[in-house]
Amino acid sequence: MDASLTLLPDLAVGPVADELFGSFVEHLGRAVYGGIYEPGHPAADASGFRRDVIDLVRELRVPVVRYPGGNFLSGYDWRDGVGPRERRPVRLDRAWHSVETNRIGIDEFCDWAREAGAEVMAGVNMGTGTPQDAADLVEYCNHPGGTAWSDLRARNGHRDPHAIRWWCVGNEMDGDWQIGHLDALSYGRKAREAMKLMRWTDERVKLVVCGSAGPGMATWPEWDRIVLEQTYDLADCLSIHRYYENAGNDDDFLSVFRDTDRFIETSAATCDYVKAKTRSKKTMGISFDEWNIWYQSREEPHPWQEAPRILEDRYTLLDALAFSGMALSLLNHADRVRVACLAQLVNVIAPIVAEPGGPAWRQATFYPFRDVSLFGRGVALRPVAKAPVRETVWGDAPSVAFAATRDEAAGTLTVFALNADRARPMRTRIDLSAFGPVEMSARTELCGPDLRAANSAARPDAVRPAAVRAARGDGGRFAVSLKPASWNVLRFRVAGSRR
Ligand code: AHR
Repeated sequence: MDASLTLLPDLAVGPVADELFGSFVEHLGRAVYGGIYEPGHPAADASGFRRDVIDLVRELRVPVVRYPGGNFLSGYDWRDGVGPRERRPVRLDRAWHSVETNRIGIDEFCDWAREAGAEVMAGVNMGTGTPQDAADLVEYCNHPGGTAWSDLRARNGHRDPHAIRWWCVGNEMDGDWQIGHLDALSYGRKAREAMKLMRWTDERVKLVVCGSAGPGMATWPEWDRIVLEQTYDLADCLSIHRYYENAGNDDDFLSVFRDTDRFIETSAATCDYVKAKTRSKKTMGISFDEWNIWYQSREEPHPWQEAPRILEDRYTLLDALAFSGMALSLLNHADRVRVACLAQLVNVIAPIVAEPGGPAWRQATFYPFRDVSLFGRGVALRPVAKAPVRETVWGDAPSVAFAATRDEAAGTLTVFALNADRARPMRTRIDLSAFGPVEMSARTELCGPDLRAANSAARPDAVRPAAVRAARGDGGRFAVSLKPASWNVLRFRVAGSRR
């Protein structure tokens, strides 16, 4: 059986928020020190930020970067990271068994993010931190001046407020690995008090409350319900996290999108239950602020160290394909997912790797992320699709997964397709006739004979997408063949468009 996709102009998922293409930089391993920041590197600027890394981040067009954690957040005192560097304390980071020098804090990170073309999504500590600490950080960052914290920011070199909009109220607080871990009701109550103070400090802030650390937790999804019942009126989004690793069956791994779909839908259903229960008119957004492939089972203990080489997964073509399926899920749920952060951005489970004193290069996952970030903006269309179905550990899953977006102003349509079948090319009919005259303007595919191929400093281009000749349509109908195990981007120009 072949696959088919029909798109209709009026059948939309909804507008795609720019923040869907966000990412994450945590004080973890070499993400900050030896990642974005390496004074003395030939590509470092006067602030010690690597311009080659910034260029790659800009290439990904990341609009928002979550900071400073992650698990790190729950033991972090933000005051340690501001003011003259020589007076900043060196601390043990107990979350990652590392030594934290505090050479980078919120001020420097906001400077970096501006250079990278992104805004900051800041986290407040709900482990060892208090609601007052959280509100003081909002005051430090966002209050114009004339108060102790805002004047301190000015004295520290930032007279203009950082104007941070998005705030994460803690991180994965149902995990026992979390510093200051709480039960759902205790976290919900504490988060509520923090959120009140944060909003009373700056009414414009957008607040993200912790959902469960993931569907593998015994507390999921009941945790989310309890927390939302405490915070529904104050929260803008529920935070959800999901990582996958290849457990040994490549076909199951290539079908993780099936599970991601269901995870988002269950999280949205939990939000909607609380919406009904609290008689709210507000529909809760989802902040999928950690998603990726992560070989968590490979982590090993390490000694106390500054910027240890940890969580430095090297991604294969196969990983990039599984990853691309998660990206499809995000686009197909753009009506609920308001923010998403690829965890993470540099060195730590990252699309970008930076070698000390050496080059920075793109991992295989860089490419599907870049594709959706560059071409996935506008309105997500609901794919009306047919494809052979196969049994997977996640239940029945289509062999080909699609997402599609339309940028009406630019007059473009983009179809993203993952052929998750490793053995067979998939003849695919794409019907765009409802859009009037349409032509295919460009096409790329990411695939190859070796699914275990990976990029490295020595072979930075071992895995990269290739351009494919665009297909000619017939009245808006196109026939293409999608290679086995391939990620495909098909770009279309709608007639009469300006570009
Ligand atoms: O992204 C790595 C870690 O994964 C984060 O610190 C934590 O929130 C999650 O468990």
